[in-house]
Amino acid sequence: MIVAVFQTVYILVCDPELIRHITTDFSKNIVKWNLIMFEGGLEKGLLFSHGEHWKKSRGIISNLFHFGLLKEREHTMYEVVRREIKDLEGKDVDLFKLGCKIGGEIVVETLFGKDFTNIRFGSNTPLEETQLFINALNSESLRPLYLLRVLLFGRVKIDSKWLTKRQAQLRDQLLRIKSVGADYIHDQQKKKERGEVIPDFIEAYLKLNDESYIDEIIQQLVIFLGAGQDTTG
Ligand code: HEM
Repeated sequence: MIVAVFQTVYILVCDPELIRHITTDFSKNIVKWNLIMFEGGLEKGLLFSHGEHWKKSRGIISNLFHFGLLKEREHTMYEVVRREIKDLEGKDVDLFKLGCKIGGEIVVETLFGKDFTNIRFGSNTPLEETQLFINALNSESLRPLYLLRVLLFGRVKIDSKWLTKRQAQLRDQLLRIKSVGADYIHDQQKKKERGEVIPDFIEAYLKLNDESYIDEIIQQLVIFLGAGQDTTG
């Protein structure tokens, strides 16, 4: 389907073979529309990355989603569901929130391991902290004033000096998640050196033996939680 809006032509592609052709053979030409705060914050995550970077990350992550590995994680899924529903008998439950929590805990535990869920950001678990951050980031990124600023000056950079109080709080929250995540990954690195088992997701990136991937591992987790939150709920 072809639609023209003002000077721009939009083409909706529905044929699966054509979609495959565009997204695989021409992946380096795809530019994703991304208004979300902050530039330099989360664009390495699969949802926002593009071109060769996306292809490389997608290759690493796809390898972790084959049937054999998913089957090994089955027990984590059952465990999380059992844990989250055990005290709900006779209570009113917000099924959407429960779905988000179960989906989120499964993502955190399978990608980052059980030890990570024991970390606390104040009184928040890593999942609560990340979901609070994602929800606040989404609503701030949709504010008319912010959108106007993007239109006039481009996306707000993470190290910008011109942030509102709320934006600065969000930046600090993201930097805190990244810093706690980086410490955790360094600990996993040491565990691996001692010959202990670490989560496949972290191991796949550590095998690349490149410190610059540490930030990407955390960005992938945040993006997975963001992309999976409403859909799972
Ligand atoms: C019914 C459930 C779901 C639906 C309908 C759905 C839909 C989609 C769609 C349409 C995209 C493409 C978006 C784009 O490229 O702009 C996408 C990408 C993505 N989704 Fe989902 N999703 C679902 C569940 C999930 C869950 C549970 C997770 C994480 C746990 C997740 C993580 C992702 C990620 C990481 C991407 C980016 C993939 C890439 O670009 O390579 N999704 N999803």
